[in-house]
Amino acid sequence: MSPKRIRVGVLGATGAVGQRFIQLLADHPYFEIGALTASDRSVGKRYADAAKWLLRGGMPAAVEDMELAPTEPAAIGADIRLLFSALPGGAAGQVEADLAAAGFAVCSNASAHRMDADVPLLIPDVNPEHTALIPAQKRARGWRGFIVTNPNCTTTHLVCALKPLQDAFGLSAVNVVSMQALSGAGYPGVSALDILDNVIPFIGGEEGKLESEPLKLLGAMQGGAIAPADFVVSAQANRVAVRNGHLEAVSVKLKRPAKIEEVAAAFTGYRGEPQRLGLPSAPDPAIILHTADDRPQPRLDRLAGNGMATSIGRLRPDPIFDYKFIVLGHNTIRGASGGAILNAELLYSQGYLA
Ligand SMILES: NC(=O)c1ccc[n+]([C@@H]2O[C@H](COP(=O)([O-])OP(=O)(O)OC[C@H]3O[C@@H](n4cnc5c(N)ncnc54)[C@H](OP(=O)(O)O)[C@@H]3O)[C@@H](O)[C@H]2O)c1
Repeated sequence: MSPKRIRVGVLGATGAVGQRFIQLLADHPYFEIGALTASDRSVGKRYADAAKWLLRGGMPAAVEDMELAPTEPAAIGADIRLLFSALPGGAAGQVEADLAAAGFAVCSNASAHRMDADVPLLIPDVNPEHTALIPAQKRARGWRGFIVTNPNCTTTHLVCALKPLQDAFGLSAVNVVSMQALSGAGYPGVSALDILDNVIPFIGGEEGKLESEPLKLLGAMQGGAIAPADFVVSAQANRVAVRNGHLEAVSVKLKRPAKIEEVAAAFTGYRGEPQRLGLPSAPDPAIILHTADDRPQPRLDRLAGNGMATSIGRLRPDPIFDYKFIVLGHNTIRGASGGAILNAELLYSQGYLA
């Protein structure tokens, strides 16, 4: 018999990531939606009137008539324990802290708290042990609740690919050039006249996130804090005219020599905590290694593992680094809402939502 589902809220429910939350939570075995919030522009409206639904399959009937609440503690029902945040980074900082202080568990997509020393930046496949920061976070801040964050969408798939290499061989340097989908810019995002027939070689703030977040994610828990990983990342971020799915051209320098077959085996053999626990949103396998010369591609491969898997291909030696390969992953599923939901499933299994 399945346990009683936990009632959850979605903050920023009308946006690109908020809509994914609603879609992915529609039949979730652990969670059910009990509250939706948005900006002042939408507060008080029916969800169906405020949100321009962007996803295939239509808006779930259960949310159509829900009234959008203000994004503040007093407006969210006492029966809600867990909040998924799809707020813009600027709005998220104070609001998420206020909600955690008021007793909510906040699983956030926003960048505001990702690099706070006492806030887990979490990918359950990569660093499930970093949730050990939560008790210290609550103590230090005097909060009844807590905040857990998931990484930037491009970082997520990069780090899912780097984790097996770091475990098996160690990493000393990583170079990444991203080709990022339009949905990563939210809705309505980049103007059609800017992106059609074009590539934009700049995404504000993105390269800094790609160069810093992997070091926290792959860092080690030492004495109750995270010691960052000791490799260096160089990133160049580009916006391309693809709807969903971020592609990344990655080169790595390893600490220990490895044959190409060993690198391939590290990818294909990788199993993390979500697979061991059988979490509902966990892809299995988490990494799909392609051998065809022209894969992975966004249109063909972004929905691998229901959008939760990381696809890798074109693994080959690199004349400057040791190896190079292509990484592809869905940005609004594993890179955003699906990643936050997997975080919450891990927290549930570890007892943090009791
Ligand atoms: N898109 C991606 O692939 C992706 C991936 C990873 C992380 N993220 C992060 O996820 C977050 C959401 O991104 P998005 O692409 O969904 O953005 P978006 O489409 O612009 O949606 C923003 C949402 O936040 C609400 N909002 C805006 N200002 C607010 C305020 N002051 N108070 C309360 N609600 C407010 C909006 O409500 P209204 O409709 O009422 O304006 C809307 O629901 C961002 O932090 C982003 O960096 C996005």
